[in-house]
Amino acid sequence: MAKQRIQYECGECGYVSPKWMGSCPICSTWNSFVEKKEERKTVTKHKVDVSESDQDEVVKLSEIVYSDKERESSNVKEFDRVLGGGFVKGSFLLLGGDPGIGKSTLMLQVALQSPNIKIFYVAGEESASQIKQRASRIGLKGDNLHIGSNTEVHSVIAMTRKLNPDLLIVDSIQTLFSDELSSLPGSVQQVRECSALLQQIAKREGVTTLMIGHVTKEGDIAGPRILEHMVDTVLHFEGDKNHFYRLLRCVKNRFGPAQEVGVFEMKGDGLQEVPNPSELFMSEIDSPVSGSAITCVMEGSRPILAEVQALVTPSSFGTPQRTASGYDQKRLSLLIAVLEKRGGHQFTGQDVYLNIAGGLKISDPAADLAVASALVSSLNDTVTPRNKIFYGEVGLGGEVRKVSFSEMRLKEAEKMGFLTAVIPKNELIKTEKIKVTSARTIADIIE
Ligand code: TYD
Ligand code: MG
Repeated sequence: MAKQRIQYECGECGYVSPKWMGSCPICSTWNSFVEKKEERKTVTKHKVDVSESDQDEVVKLSEIVYSDKERESSNVKEFDRVLGGGFVKGSFLLLGGDPGIGKSTLMLQVALQSPNIKIFYVAGEESASQIKQRASRIGLKGDNLHIGSNTEVHSVIAMTRKLNPDLLIVDSIQTLFSDELSSLPGSVQQVRECSALLQQIAKREGVTTLMIGHVTKEGDIAGPRILEHMVDTVLHFEGDKNHFYRLLRCVKNRFGPAQEVGVFEMKGDGLQEVPNPSELFMSEIDSPVSGSAITCVMEGSRPILAEVQALVTPSSFGTPQRTASGYDQKRLSLLIAVLEKRGGHQFTGQDVYLNIAGGLKISDPAADLAVASALVSSLNDTVTPRNKIFYGEVGLGGEVRKVSFSEMRLKEAEKMGFLTAVIPKNELIKTEKIKVTSARTIADIIE
């Protein structure tokens, strides 16, 4: 006999507590606890004998057949790159992103550009006619695409078994529900139950399954954290609402490189792949102005040139402003402090604004040197040539430290027609076209 006991569960992170709480002690969300009826199973003795069917579930590693050809290309190059070369058969993926960023468009485009892959698309967010409208906007037909609008998870699974597609796309996991549970679609219980059932479809029956998921205000994928542990690959689709570029970032990948990025541009007729993103993030200024410096940051295994723009002006208020967009504000304050202490530059009484052109968000420490040089350039009102590139991490002692992938960064700069590079000392790199100047400390960049 199963006994029932009332517990409370946090709707954000799934933390379970025996009493109701106003704020979750784990994720600090307010008012997120809902009643959860827990089924307590009575303890049964586990069987000792091993039956025939149990033995089937244990295999010797040497007997497992595996071929690397079991990857299916999606025909969208940037998408394949992020996955590490295409979909692995039977893998379980999660794609998250802000509403309206283009998740459905991306998946529809993948679906429509791969006529050789049979796809079952469960549309919980839009009607079939809305999808048709979008598909015709992208300009593709899609005979390989089957669209389902029933979002009850058992029906989805039954339909998947019947259709036997190569790829199952669930848009989105928050609209799926199991009629065996009483909670609403999107609740922790429902998301957990539905994704567990879908995982079985992927693992047992070899149907590659991709779930689209919503993100919370903090940028995490909504629903229980276990969702991210359960899947093989977690993808994030991100971008700036005011700009048209979109980055597809891989944050976890069991079958390929993590941290890889794909770059797209949202156009009137769907997403366009951007094979050369460096062009996208350079500003349109032709003649050089003070306060601008170009750097090369790594996004996954890919070097991208970015322009750092700084504006240093005398402050009209008591407390000077320090504003950064696309860059960490604390890192900016730190670099200003290093420049004051180790470089002898005075930013007291000056407002400092920092911007990364094109709306890119930089977290690579290699951009430090460019930020420092843009700041000094604006402070002294001197101009840095447009054909010069800076990269290197700046330490608290004012020293310029080595960064990874130096050679790739230089190659990219060379490709984009740069003539000089200021890089950390001790980097042993030979280049043909670029003149390399090495910087040992922050004071060296001022000359
Ligand atoms: P959508 O894929 O619906 O976003 P998500 O599924 O992540 O919520 O993206 C919709 C946005 O993309 C919407 O603001 C319109 C825009 N869009 C274009 O600019 N061009 C297009 O060809 C399409 C299909 C959408
Ligand atoms: Mg959508």
